[in-house]
Amino acid sequence: MALLKILHYPDKRLHTVARPVEVVDDDIRRLAADMAETMYAAPGIGLAATQVDRHIQMILVDVSEKRNDLRVFINPEIVEAEGEAVGEEGCLSVPGIYDKVKRAQRIRVRALNLQGEPFELEAEGLLGVCIQHEIDHLRGKVFVEYLSRLKQDRIKLKLKKQQRETM
Ligand code: NI
Repeated sequence: MALLKILHYPDKRLHTVARPVEVVDDDIRRLAADMAETMYAAPGIGLAATQVDRHIQMILVDVSEKRNDLRVFINPEIVEAEGEAVGEEGCLSVPGIYDKVKRAQRIRVRALNLQGEPFELEAEGLLGVCIQHEIDHLRGKVFVEYLSRLKQDRIKLKLKKQQRETM
């Protein structure tokens, strides 16, 4: 397994739209294992392939306290959404920035697992938010793009400054 480099906003590659996975094979399973290692090491509760510059539709989520409930969604699709909930979000691609985003309160998601088998899951609370956030990455969307233009500009400046200081 290997730690992967996480792209940081405002990297343009974060706006790439991911293509569907055609065959769930060993390459995909290896990438999922590397992404899991990367997510746990960060540490984070979710990671989309887009964030490690692999533009295929795969996301990983683990919102458990013990960090032992890894869920992998390949070609995820939200088939039902209801209600509204506003919660504070952060993102491994936008380090140090947290802000409120409005999401569906409950979703039903359809995806393939690592064996290539279809499954459906109903999710709400943190799990539901995390899945919606990660699916956005596959569409090339970062959560800060729900914020005002002014806030986005401030975040870009702050992150560019951080990146200069760590170089
Ligand atoms: Ni994110």
